Amino acid sequence: MTAVRSGPWSFLVYLVLPHPVKMRLLSPELVGRLDRVNLAVNVAMYSGSGASAYDQTHRYAEAEHHEYPAKPLVEDIWPGRGYGRALELGAGTGYFTRIIALRAQSVLAVEPVPDMQRVLLAGCATDGLRNVEVLGAPATELGRHVPPASIDTALVVQSLHHLHRRPEVFEALARVVRPGGRLLVVEPHHNVRRVARLIRKWIKYYRARAFWSNDMNWATHDFLTRREIIGLCRRAGFEPRRVSGYWIPGLGRIVRDPAARFRLERTLGRIPLLRHFAGVLALEAQRSPRAPR
Ligand SMILES: C[S@@+](CC[C@H](N)C(=O)[O-])C[C@H]1O[C@@H](n2cnc3c(N)ncnc32)[C@H](O)[C@@H]1O
Repeated sequence: MTAVRSGPWSFLVYLVLPHPVKMRLLSPELVGRLDRVNLAVNVAMYSGSGASAYDQTHRYAEAEHHEYPAKPLVEDIWPGRGYGRALELGAGTGYFTRIIALRAQSVLAVEPVPDMQRVLLAGCATDGLRNVEVLGAPATELGRHVPPASIDTALVVQSLHHLHRRPEVFEALARVVRPGGRLLVVEPHHNVRRVARLIRKWIKYYRARAFWSNDMNWATHDFLTRREIIGLCRRAGFEPRRVSGYWIPGLGRIVRDPAARFRLERTLGRIPLLRHFAGVLALEAQRSPRAPR
C-alpha cells in the first residue's frame, strides 16, 4: 500500500471513505496488493484459536448483541417455505450455516480459511447435519466451482465487509442464483457514527507510525452504506425488495425485549434519516425472474 501509505492523514482518509470511493482511488497495482493483504489477514485472523474460539469470542448464543439481528432474520423471517438449495458466503465457523441447514434442502458453505472449514464441518457433524458441503474458495472464484443458476438462496452474513472487489462478488452471485432466487445480506452499516468511531480510534491508536506503516492494517474492514449495497445489487441484476436498519441508537434502552425491538426496528429502520443511524443493514433482494440463465 506504499503509494497511499504516505502518512497518518492518508490512513485516516482511507479508513473513513465509503468503500466504493476508496476503491476508485486505488491503482490496479494496489488493488492486487490488497488481494494479497486481505488473504494473509483473513488466514491469520481466522486460523488456530481465531477459528476454534470464534464463537466464544463473538459470544454467539450467549449475548444478544453479537447475533442480533442476524439470528431472527436467518431463523424466522427469511426462510419462508425454506431456503431450497442455499449458498452461504463467508460461512466462518458455521454458526449461521447450521441454522440455514435446518431450513434448506442443501447448503454450500463458501469459506476459504481451512481452520474455519474444520470447525464448521465438526459443528455440522455434532448436530447430525448431512446437507452441508464446504467450498474452500474465495468469493470471486464462485463461478469456477458452482454451476450457473443452481442456487435458490444466497446468504451473506457479516462477511462482505471483509471483502473488496465487491462488484465481482455480486456478479458471481448473480450467475449462480437462479432467476427469481433470493439474495439475503446482513452487514454492519457505514454511517456518521461509524466515521466518528474510526476517528476516535485513529486519534488513540491508528495515527501512530507503527500502525499505519504496517500493510496488514490496510486490510479491508469496510462497513457498507445503503447506497453501496443497493448499487451492487442493481448492477449485478438483483432487485432490492427491502433494506432495513437495526440497532437504532437508544432503542435498546426503551424497548428491552429483543423480540419486540426486532419487530419495531424492522419498520422504523426503513424510515429516512432514522435508518441512517442504524448500526446494521439487512437486505432482501431477488434476482429478476426474467434474468437470462
Ligand atoms: C466475520 S467472519 C463471519 C463468519 C460468519 N458468517 C458469521 O457471521 O459468524 C467473516 C468470514 O468471511 C470469510 N472470508 C474472508 N474473505 C473471504 C473471501 N474472499 N471469500 C469468502 N469468504 C471470505 C472469513 O474467512 C471469515 O470466516
